[in-house]
Amino acid sequence: MFHLDKLIRENIKKLTPYSSARDEYSGEAKVFLDANENSLGSPLNRWYNRYPDPHQRAIKEKLSIVKGIGAEHIFLGNGSDECIDLLFRSFCEPGKDNVILCPPTYGMYEVSANINDIAIKKAPLLDDFQLDLIHLEKLVDANTKIIWVCSPNNPTGNSLHRTDIEMVLNNFDGIVVIDEAYINFAKQKSFVQELTEYPNLVVMQTFSKAWGLAGLRLGMAFSSTAIIEILDKVKPPYNINQATQELVLKAMEEVGQVNDMIRLLVDMRNALAEVFRSMPTVEKVYPSDANFILVKIKEASMIYRFLISRGIVVRDRSNVRLCEDCLRVTVGTENENTMLVNAMQDWYAGKQTV
Ligand SMILES: Cc1ncc(COP(=O)(O)O)c(C=O)c1O
Repeated sequence: MFHLDKLIRENIKKLTPYSSARDEYSGEAKVFLDANENSLGSPLNRWYNRYPDPHQRAIKEKLSIVKGIGAEHIFLGNGSDECIDLLFRSFCEPGKDNVILCPPTYGMYEVSANINDIAIKKAPLLDDFQLDLIHLEKLVDANTKIIWVCSPNNPTGNSLHRTDIEMVLNNFDGIVVIDEAYINFAKQKSFVQELTEYPNLVVMQTFSKAWGLAGLRLGMAFSSTAIIEILDKVKPPYNINQATQELVLKAMEEVGQVNDMIRLLVDMRNALAEVFRSMPTVEKVYPSDANFILVKIKEASMIYRFLISRGIVVRDRSNVRLCEDCLRVTVGTENENTMLVNAMQDWYAGKQTV
């Protein structure tokens, strides 16, 4: 049985959260002399002298309509990376608890675990990059607090089988985090609508990918109100700055443009995958539900360096287990993709003359 109380770190249970000036008064006063701000203004033509809304109410209100869930089920972090760190700090007792990762996957789960002194157990993905449920089950012990699942997965690009994820949600009494950073590029449905079904579910999404706002740093976590309340208690009071809050609100009025970008990126991803498939030394282009492709290619590291010499940076994943000889290529603009393909043709041309 899932008991949230058993999962929360003892010190967090006892924690009295910081109460900010904006927490203690958030009405419509004329004179704010409560937060030691600079009352004269700022060098910028904006009210950046004031602290931002610690609860990001306006964004959450809009998001709750877009996602079809109540605002009380939404947490916003300074990128998903902050959500990852806060989940560790809220639920995992340093030096005692452990979490399970399914590599190859997004590197920050491991780094964040290490920063927080949380033991890591690994259930590597199977050869088809799907969850190894049998291995996962064997790894769970009384101190396992979180299972991290990334779907679509980085760096492999595939979505995990929905039934496998449901199996984990149904059988694990700790927290299951599903990182859906790339969900907008996927054919799969999000798990956001399943929150009422699973009290142990945390879904993470981000404005960094489909929304094109990586520079603003805004990540989302969706979960039960009980879990959201804990994350709110632990987060720094003003974790989402005013500029980000204003700009994201503005961006959310341009849903049509974002949907156009998603469609174009998916089309270009599929086209780029086809071109790579036709290259002579490419062994495999893995199916992708994300805005990147994973390409297994002979001499991957040499090609990586060759592309760098042409001013093109892809990600060399050849040292990652199960991704041997693999490059991870983000879909660029039409022009950037052409430059990449031309550089690859030069690579092959050079090979023939040697
Ligand atoms: C799977 C996954 N999750 C989270 C992130 C980070 O998201 P954010 O920019 O919101 O911190 C990335 C970034 O590459 C990612 O690949």
